[in-house]
Amino acid sequence: MENLDLNRLPKHIAIIMDGNGRWAQEKGQDRLYGHFHGVQSVRNIVEAASEIGIKYLTLYAFSTENWDRPAAEVAGLMSLFVDTISKEVPDLHKNNIKLHFIGNLSLLPDDAKLALEQATQTTSKNTGLELIIALSYSSRWELIQAIKNIAEMVHLGTLAPADIKEATLEAALSTSAFPDPELMIRTSGEYRISNFLLYQLAYAELYFTETRWPDFRKKDLIEALLDFQSRERRFGKTSVQIHTND
Ligand code: FPP
Repeated sequence: MENLDLNRLPKHIAIIMDGNGRWAQEKGQDRLYGHFHGVQSVRNIVEAASEIGIKYLTLYAFSTENWDRPAAEVAGLMSLFVDTISKEVPDLHKNNIKLHFIGNLSLLPDDAKLALEQATQTTSKNTGLELIIALSYSSRWELIQAIKNIAEMVHLGTLAPADIKEATLEAALSTSAFPDPELMIRTSGEYRISNFLLYQLAYAELYFTETRWPDFRKKDLIEALLDFQSRERRFGKTSVQIHTND
């Protein structure tokens, strides 16, 4: 922690929390046992990110594709989300954390929708860490929604096709209120983005670790941050330009 440069932290970290199933199976347990333990990592990393001074943290909790998992696993995950969110809200609120949910939330069961609405409402005035949970989310789904909204504006005559810019698309995404992630972490040794924030991750530094999500803790987050700080972010420029501000 003392080696971290607190002036060069990413404002926004996005995490693909992978490996719960394998972690459980390696212990001879049911996959849901892994998700249950994954919640401890969520708690630990949210607390650590808030302490370190990260402003935005996005966690990929459930993808659109995850709806195709066995029904018992989907049902178990849904009740885990409802339980965890309802149970954690008082603590999150006390720690000044503001919750957001992105994704196709209309597909969620009613009790989950209610828990999310209440959690968003309760924490809406908080000014600390902004915790964004991607639930029933996929980037292609999000892009299609954005394109439909833009097409509608063109259809109504409020937007000329020639005026469509990056900012137009960004404003139509579910992440319009947040800056792009500067660091994306994926646990458990898979080297993929899996339909997560495809537009927003354009310039993110990607960090992959073999550690399974239920084992991922504050020290692992700090390792990822140290790795991030060792990289040179050039945004298409040359190294000389970056060092001379040219
Ligand atoms: C991926 O591991 C993980 C998930 C699909 C679920 C993540 C959910 C949690 C960590 C629970 C708590 C979250 C919140 C925000 C309350 P996997 O099942 O794909 O693992 P595998 O690749 O080893 O099979």
